[in-house]
Parts: sequence; structure tokens; C-alpha cells
Amino acid sequence: MKNCLICQTNIDVFMDFGQQPIANGFVTKEQFDDEYFFHMQTAFCPKCTMVQLIEQPDREKMFHENYAFFSSTSNYMVKHFAAFVEDMTSRQNLGTNSFAVEIGCNDGILSQNFVKAGIPHLGVEPSKNVAEIARSKGVNVTTEFFDKALAETAIKNYKKADAIFSANVMCHIPYMHSVFEGIKILLDENGIFAFEDPYLGDIIQKTSFDQIYDEHVFFFSAHSVSYLANMHGLELFDIAPQITHGGSMRYYIAHKDAKPLSQNVSKQLQFEKELGLDEGKTFTAFNAKIDKIKSDLITLLQKLHNEGKKVVAYGATSKSTTTANYFGITPELVQFVSDTTPIKQGKYTPGMHIPVVSHETFVASEPDYVLLFAWNHAKEIMENEAAYMKNRGAKWIMYIPQVEIVEA
Ligand code: SAH
Ligand code: TMP
Ligand code: ZN
Repeated sequence: MKNCLICQTNIDVFMDFGQQPIANGFVTKEQFDDEYFFHMQTAFCPKCTMVQLIEQPDREKMFHENYAFFSSTSNYMVKHFAAFVEDMTSRQNLGTNSFAVEIGCNDGILSQNFVKAGIPHLGVEPSKNVAEIARSKGVNVTTEFFDKALAETAIKNYKKADAIFSANVMCHIPYMHSVFEGIKILLDENGIFAFEDPYLGDIIQKTSFDQIYDEHVFFFSAHSVSYLANMHGLELFDIAPQITHGGSMRYYIAHKDAKPLSQNVSKQLQFEKELGLDEGKTFTAFNAKIDKIKSDLITLLQKLHNEGKKVVAYGATSKSTTTANYFGITPELVQFVSDTTPIKQGKYTPGMHIPVVSHETFVASEPDYVLLFAWNHAKEIMENEAAYMKNRGAKWIMYIPQVEIVEA
């Protein structure tokens, strides 16, 4: 029995993934024996509706100078974040007299748009390696974790923010009350805090269980975000679904009564009630669907292995750490994972130790089947690889929302 990180109510586990490694913790052979594992379990809070991890590794184990996720590896995401800044620029009339903050700016994929538009800004990014890349793009970065103390310093050094952005970061932060206290003081009286993260509604609808890994401590919905905002004198006043990361939601938050309440919020709350996101039994059903995907995929991989087919994987995503470890996908079943990120290449995937190779190695390898670990980038990847896959007669294996072989 544990208490909810948001409202302190007692919460029960609905899903137990067993021992899991650090999702972005790619290892060398020498590191195999002292790899770190933690007990990964998820729970639903019946009071505030927040879905959350019970236990999470220390933040320094995940976000550091060797952080392996570089946002700009996806061209689609580059465009997506330019559009996010445009959206907020038109909502807040951002310009050379404004002040914008980005929490978790990574390699500057979003904040580089402030540089281009001459918008005074601050990027907050604790992982030194990616922060350095953002700096090289002209982004003003502080290499720290965002929380209340950081917000206080930022107000002293700069001013209150007209816009605070964050993408795929809020769901990483267990000390959420300190973050919201920071937002409350840093946000100008007419400011907007807009953040987006993988959406619980999509996770339930698509059975995208692999969004659950060490870094993702919260799985937000309009219900839980609205509850959280209210606790801090803030208000969820608008909401906008996004197709990124397998289905995300952008939440627009302002000081209470500062902005007109959009009907999008009440519509989404209604939709979530229909989907059962406010009820524990929904998550028990979700659990059963995950186990069906697990048995279907392992049966298929085992069959292809027995037939002597060459099966490889594409995209050493953080998500795939959960899939590989929970399902038991060994290097016998999947020979390697292709990934364009240099820091991952030559290493082995966390826990299951599948070798990570470059895209060039993938092209030279002549696979029969390619397991698409990066299913959230399916459109971009399938378009890029269509000619190669057809020439080779290779097929994709998909597993979200169900196991399927897809012709290229
Ligand atoms: N916004 C980018 C990066 C997401 S990855 C994108 O959407 O692609 C998550 C990032 O959050 C990592 O770069 C990590 O270092 C950073 N992070 C983790 N905890 C943080 C905190 N408390 N404050 C600011 N950034 C944080
Ligand atoms: P993400 O799902 O966390 O965004 O990670 C995507 C991973 O997939 C990242 O390691 C980069 C890799 N990738 C490729 O190797 N090729 C591609 O075309 C794309 C879009 C991503
Ligand atoms: Zn709660």
C-alpha cells in the first residue's frame, strides 16, 4: 500500500511489470553485471484519478551527462515544436518584450524557435550533454532540475513568464507539487503554462503499455491535470490532442479565472468518463490486454525463429525497454536494434542486452522481418524505409494496438 503522490490517498497496484532496468540505460558488455533494476508497478488513485508509478529510480540515475535521448532525431518533432511555439506566440503575442521558459529543453528542439524569433527565454535542462547542444544553437540554458527553488531564482534573474512550455517532461517529475508551486509563482498573471505528454486516453485505447517505464512517473488525463492545477490556484482552461508519441495531450493552464474556459475541457472530461479513466476497473481490463499482446508477440517471434527467419528491430526507444524486458525478447529472437543515435550504437539494450547498431548496419543486414519498436514514429520511418523494405521483401511487425505483420 502506498500513498498517491498528488493527493496522499491510499492507492493499489493494478499492474506489476517485475524488475525493470533504466529505460535509457544502454550498457557496454563490461556493465552487464552491475546493471541497476527497480520494481516497476503502476497504480490508479480513486480520488484524484492520477495513474502513477509506485517506485521510481533516483533522478540522477536517469538524467545526467550521458542522457541517451536526443529530441532532434525526429524531423517530424522538429516541425511539431515549431508549430507549438507558433501556437503560443499567437495566443500570448510573444515577441522581443516577452519572457518564455521551457522546462526540459533537451537539445533545443523547441527553444531554438525562441532564438529565431528573438524571444527572451530560459531553457531548463539538467542533462548536461543535451543542454550543451541546445547552447550551441544559441539557447540560453541553465543545467538544473526545474522546481520551486529554480522558479524563485528565475524570477530574480529574469522576470515572470508570459509563456512556460514543457513537452514530455512533466510526466517525468515525481516532485510535482514543487513544480506546480514553481509554475504558480513564475507565471505572469496573464501567462500560460502549456505542457504536453503521452495521454492516458490513448494509452488505454491503444493498449500502449510501453509508455510505462522508469522515467514516466505520471500518466495524465484532463481529470488528473485539472485536479492538480486546482490544488495550486491554477486552472486547466484548454486542451488539444496531439498525434506525437503515440498520442499525446497538450494542457493549457493559467491562474484561476485568468483565461476563458474552453468547451474543449468539458468535452474531454465527458469523453474520459465514457472511456472509464476515472474508474479503477478500466485498468484491470487494460492489464489483460497487455498480456494478450505479450503472448501473441512472443509466439510469433518464436515461430519465426524456429523457421530460421532473420528478425531485427528498429528504434532503440525508451518504450521498447519495457516491451523487451516484460515480454522476454532476447537477442536470439531479435538479432539487433537499429538506431540513428550515436550514443546508443555499439552498446546493448537495457536488461535484455540486444546489440544496438547503426542504420548502415541495418541496411546491409537483409532482414526478413523488422519489429518496429519506434511505432510512435511509424509514419516517418515506414515512408523512409518503404523502398528498401520492398526491394528486400521484408515485412514490419507491429504490436500496438495488436500484433500484426504489415507489408511494406
Ligand atoms: N522536451 C523534449 C525532451 C523530452 S526528454 C522533447 O519533448 O523531446 C525529457 C527531458 O526532461 C530530458 O532531457 C531530461 O533531462 C529533462 N528533465 C528531467 N527532469 C527535469 C526537471 N525537473 N526539470 C527540467 N528538465 C527535466
Ligand atoms: P522516442 O520514441 O523516444 O522518440 O525514440 C525514438 C528512437 O528511435 C531514437 O533513439 C531515435 C530512433 N529513430 C531512428 O533510429 N530512426 C528514425 O527514423 C527515427 C524517427 C527514430
Ligand atoms: Zn490521488
